[in-house]
This record gives sequence, structure tokens and C-alpha cells, in this order.
Amino acid sequence: MFTAGILTVSDKGSRGERQDKSGEAIHEILSTMDVRILNYDIVPDEKELISKKLVEWADEDKVDVIITTGGTGLTPRDVTPEATLAVVDRIVPGFAEAMRAESLKKTPMAMLSRAVVGTRGKCLIINLPGSPKAVRECLEVILPALPHAVETLKGQAGECAAPET
Ligand code: MTE
Repeated sequence: MFTAGILTVSDKGSRGERQDKSGEAIHEILSTMDVRILNYDIVPDEKELISKKLVEWADEDKVDVIITTGGTGLTPRDVTPEATLAVVDRIVPGFAEAMRAESLKKTPMAMLSRAVVGTRGKCLIINLPGSPKAVRECLEVILPALPHAVETLKGQAGECAAPET
């Protein structure tokens, strides 16, 4: 079991002008796993606000995994990767590499997501793109590695052998 926080980054969502279908998709998928969702919020595309929320959840609430959705693209307001990089102490490139590689098989637009994944202390912070479709496609790729990633980060992992397929 691990704990999670879901942070939707959206100007319109934060003003209540758009239903948060991406946050709902993450919620729905995590609900099928042994995960306890501790935090959920929507913030506008403001670097300082995003970073502040990540720090609060990681340091004070001790959430194991924070999944953000939105703000990873190329519009001038997209700053989620910068907000994440400002607060992580290590990046975990494999997660983002895997998401983009698999997503490229579905759409060339996957190249446009600048999503990053990193750790702050014992918290794993994962950026996902902003559409519910992208959320589902990306989570499908990384979920098999997530429980072991959390165990390793918390120093609870035993043998690190890859599971038999
Ligand atoms: N990744 C997957 N798997 N599926 C998608 O449909 N959409 C892309 C990309 N990544 C997409 C995807 C598009 S169209 C954009 S613009 C970027 O994610 C950035 O999205 P964001 O700015 O909403 O984070």
C-alpha cells in the first residue's frame, strides 16, 4: 500500500470553468490499486503555487507519490516541469522516457509533453500531460513499476529482481 496526492494544474479548472476529467481519471485508476489518496487539489498554471503544493504534500503530509496532470506542454503558461524541477532533489528519467516512448506509438504529439519525474526526500513526483486520454495512456505504462519504486524509495524493498513475465 502507498499513499498518493493528485494535483491538477489548470487555469480554467482552478476557476471552476472546466470539469477536472484528468484528475478524475487518475483517481479512478488509483482506486483500483492498493493506494490511499490523501490529497487532491487544482491549482492554476503558476510555478510558485505548483511548487508550494508539491513541497507541502511531500514534506508535511509525507505523501508517497504525487501525480500531477497538465501544464507539461509548450504554451507560455505551461510550467509544471519547471515547478517540479525546482523542488526535486533527484530526477528519475526512466519514467518520463517510458511514458513518451510508449505514447509515441499512439500519437506523435507525445513529443510535446515535457513531463518530468523526480524524488523529493521519500516522495516520488510524477508529471502527466493534461488530457484524460493521455493520463490513462501514461499511467498504464508506469503503474507496473510504481509499487517497487515506492518501496525502494522508502528503503523497504527486498530483492530488486524484475518480476517474471
Ligand atoms: N501523451 C499521450 N500518451 N497521449 C496524448 O494524447 N497528448 C500530447 C502530449 N502527450 C498526449 C500525450 C499533447 S497533444 C500535448 S500538447 C502534450 O502532451 C502536453 O500536454 P499538457 O500541456 O496538457 O500537459
